[in-house]
Amino acid sequence: MLSKILLFFVIVNFVSDYSYGQRDKKFFRKDYKYLEAVEGFYKIHTLHKTWSEAKRVCALEGASLLYPENDDEAHAVLSFWNATQPYRWVYVGISDLIVKGVFETIDGLPVSDVYNNWGPGEPNDAGGIEDCVKLRQDGTLNDDQCNKKFPFICKKSLQSLEWNMKCNFPNLGLASGLASGLASGLASGHVT
Ligand SMILES: *[C@@H]1O[C@H](CO)[C@@H](O)[C@H](O)[C@H]1NC(C)=O
Repeated sequence: MLSKILLFFVIVNFVSDYSYGQRDKKFFRKDYKYLEAVEGFYKIHTLHKTWSEAKRVCALEGASLLYPENDDEAHAVLSFWNATQPYRWVYVGISDLIVKGVFETIDGLPVSDVYNNWGPGEPNDAGGIEDCVKLRQDGTLNDDQCNKKFPFICKKSLQSLEWNMKCNFPNLGLASGLASGLASGLASGHVT
């Protein structure tokens, strides 16, 4: 059973990353824009989704729901957003759904470790029902109700493409390819 689950993840990784990603050409997928300054691929989804749906859509594309890691990334993404879309808010990959009042990223980092420029008085958990975080066009964060629908941004870092290239996946036989993919995937925490 465990090996079947692992095999599934390996195949998901293979399909979602390798088949789209080309490190040298800085190409991930044609619907993602590469931002050189922050070495990442980004897509602004204009179809509004709930927070959970947004997270799922990004994962299905082999990417993840963006949370800016630092000021540089927030600035780069906001410039891209300002230049292309009119929306005031997008969901980001931060919530306190696991432990109320403890905001963390979708990959488990405390919000204090990443871009955390909260708006004045935020997060305020208005009505006791605000657990998902959105980014405002002015660069501030705010908590809101997870079932509200907003646009959102998916991200794939160039670094995560590089990992796949190092695996040299397609050139390996199935057995060694699986072993190598599994080992690296587990070691890098890439299997999510
Ligand atoms: C994006 O637009 C908003 C609203 O006009 C502005 O406050 C913000 O400074 C802009 N950010 C960037 C990085 O261009």
